[in-house]
Amino acid sequence: MKNFTTVHDIGPLDLAVKEALEVKANRFAFTDLGRNKTLLMIFFNSSLRTRLSTQKAAMNLGMNIMVLDVNQGAWKLETERGVIMDGDKAEHLLEAIPVMGSYCDIIGVRSFAGLKDKAEDYEERVINQFIKYSGRPVFSMEAATRHPLQSFADLITIEEYKTKQRPKVVMTWAPHPKALPQAVPNSFAEWMNATDYDFVITHPHGYELAPEFVGKAKVEYDQRKALEGADFVYAKNWSAYADPNYGKVLSTDRGWMVDAEKMALTDNAFFMHCLPVRRNMIVSDDVIESERSIVIPEAANREISAQVVIKRLLESL
Ligand code: CP
Repeated sequence: MKNFTTVHDIGPLDLAVKEALEVKANRFAFTDLGRNKTLLMIFFNSSLRTRLSTQKAAMNLGMNIMVLDVNQGAWKLETERGVIMDGDKAEHLLEAIPVMGSYCDIIGVRSFAGLKDKAEDYEERVINQFIKYSGRPVFSMEAATRHPLQSFADLITIEEYKTKQRPKVVMTWAPHPKALPQAVPNSFAEWMNATDYDFVITHPHGYELAPEFVGKAKVEYDQRKALEGADFVYAKNWSAYADPNYGKVLSTDRGWMVDAEKMALTDNAFFMHCLPVRRNMIVSDDVIESERSIVIPEAANREISAQVVIKRLLESL
């Protein structure tokens, strides 16, 4: 694997999950693989899980790790070519990227969508510049349109908890006070569509995701109908994708929150969320604290998805 930014980079999912379960059973089996190799993790945005789980995964593989928070202690970076740099940005990404590449063997990048310019976000300008100019394998720690390490961890978790060969997985929009990117739902849809699960997306009108991510998923605007018989409920907020409302909050209707009454419509479903989650906006306290909530093992599997990805990148060096 040369880079990891989408489901298409990981190859057959059954083999990826098999490798993940092997890594999970013996996570220190490859400590020699990363000896004298350095991972540079670059964050343009905040993180708890991605930062810690990816660092732990690289440590399990014997790597050295450097972490750069671009907005704390580094020069402010210009990302647009052709800009007259007379403002507060002291360095251009086009110099910064090869410099960063010269200090490491593998680069992880977190760079969210700005939600101002859909074309710019969906071109994945920042992470693609790292791939083009760093000279190193690059993996996404959540980019503008996808969060593949999260989706891979979600898939591992579903495979661990499913009791049916073909579970019904429902991704439901839920309210949030701020405009959030579409990266997590896009990516989750992309990974679920690569399985043979019965995959349903439910959201209010106006929150349609990009058709290339919706793919073969069933879209059901009636949340209660969508949840009937579900084996897994995956809650997430996202802002509007469709023009002219790209990046906007169209609804904060708390009638879409996942609560016990909604979960009662399911087939005793497991509750999932990538975290961080706003309680009593996205999900009620009782649901997230219930025995069917698997948000903590789901987050724990972030270490495993990251370890498989970094292992494969190290094997390709
Ligand atoms: N799920 C996730 O990516 O969490 P962080 O934003 O805390 O890394």
